[in-house]
Amino acid sequence: MGEPDGTPISRSLYERAVRVMPGGASRNSAIREPHPLYAARADGCRITDVDGAERIDFANNMASLIHGHAHPAIVSAVANQLRKGTASTLSTEVEVRFAEHLCSRNPNFEKVRFVNSGTEAVMGALKAARAFTGRTKVAKAEGAYHGLYDYAEVSQTARPSNWGDLDSPASVPVAHGTPQPVLDDVVVIPYNDPERAVAILDRQADEIACVLLDVMPHWAGLCPATPAYASALQRWVGHNGALLVADEVITFRNSYGGAQQQYGLAPDITAMGKIIGGGFPVGAIAGRAHIMEMMNPLGDSYLLPYSGTFSANPVTMTAGLTAMELYDQAQIDHVNRLAELAVGAINDTIKTLGAPASVTGAGSMFRIHMRPDPPANHRETHPDPAAAERLKQFYNRMLDCGILLIYSGAGAISTPMGEAEIDQLVAAVDTSLAALR
Ligand SMILES: Cc1ncc(COP(=O)(O)O)c(C=O)c1O
Repeated sequence: MGEPDGTPISRSLYERAVRVMPGGASRNSAIREPHPLYAARADGCRITDVDGAERIDFANNMASLIHGHAHPAIVSAVANQLRKGTASTLSTEVEVRFAEHLCSRNPNFEKVRFVNSGTEAVMGALKAARAFTGRTKVAKAEGAYHGLYDYAEVSQTARPSNWGDLDSPASVPVAHGTPQPVLDDVVVIPYNDPERAVAILDRQADEIACVLLDVMPHWAGLCPATPAYASALQRWVGHNGALLVADEVITFRNSYGGAQQQYGLAPDITAMGKIIGGGFPVGAIAGRAHIMEMMNPLGDSYLLPYSGTFSANPVTMTAGLTAMELYDQAQIDHVNRLAELAVGAINDTIKTLGAPASVTGAGSMFRIHMRPDPPANHRETHPDPAAAERLKQFYNRMLDCGILLIYSGAGAISTPMGEAEIDQLVAAVDTSLAALR
């Protein structure tokens, strides 16, 4: 199924693609050797590639499709909106309704602005924190991915040769050419290590505008933050005149108002994206009214011009509102329960096989690692070359077993899934891990 000979149409599309796109694609998450697979159609929790192979989709467009593909209510609402126009310079009622809906989900969201991606939402949140505090530095956990904004991406690709001492992790650039002043303005703190993190923050307390926190950073291991770590950062910003910026681009799915509610956090600003777009590109910045008012050109505290041509376009707003109205407590409980089942059964399988693998995750997400103990942070997640190779093989075996994961080994449950899909996932993990031994 996943081998080149079984995928002639994908292969020939790729041969055309590499001539006109670097790597043959517009997003690295689609790239795979010997070539990417191309989607023909998708429905519910299943996706079929152009060569006719159907798989259960646990990738869900990098965890952005909470209702899977082509949910009938979203399709119908979007089709209706398409006929009324896709974007204009006038605002729309659906934008207002969606803003009301999001604000109703969490008291920390007093006002909201829509943007087009998680990257933009994080960028807006960091700019807002700087404008509000008059300080320039932002702190973030080592290895955490927060999108592509220069400041937010620092240290995401840190590796043993350049990550430095844990008491002072290096500001490792992702993009070559990142200006040194950007690196100097990013304070990298270890993840899930409250004592070290606070000691580092204390050293430059007067300069830090905000701490950017994802309580379950996917690329740093999908390890849930310890309550002690999250509350130490919340306390630190409170005592030092800085803001807490929550990145809930992934974790908003974890509970009705985002994972921050499970930790009892009260972030000043929250960045969202992914599932709130109902399958369309989206981002949102939500937070305290007096901070968000800095974006109001008619207000007295207009310190942050922030806009975008396609922001709050009515197609995204319609899809997002429909998706989020459907994502009620019953649906949240449903996907979280399925993930718990999956993690329990995968752990049992790993134990029975004696495989050098482990699982992390929370809410409706899980991530399978090619190391015997679950990692707790970026440094432990970073694979040695042999583990990286095993992960590639594991991912391809899972494709052969009819399961599409994210290439990190992570998976996201969607609401159309049931126990049958979890059984198929676990059976595929069993077969794939056994084949690696
Ligand atoms: C935690 C987190 N923040 C921000 C982003 C960036 O979102 P986008 O890809 O929509 O720009 C991502 C994307 O995967 C993410 O996982």
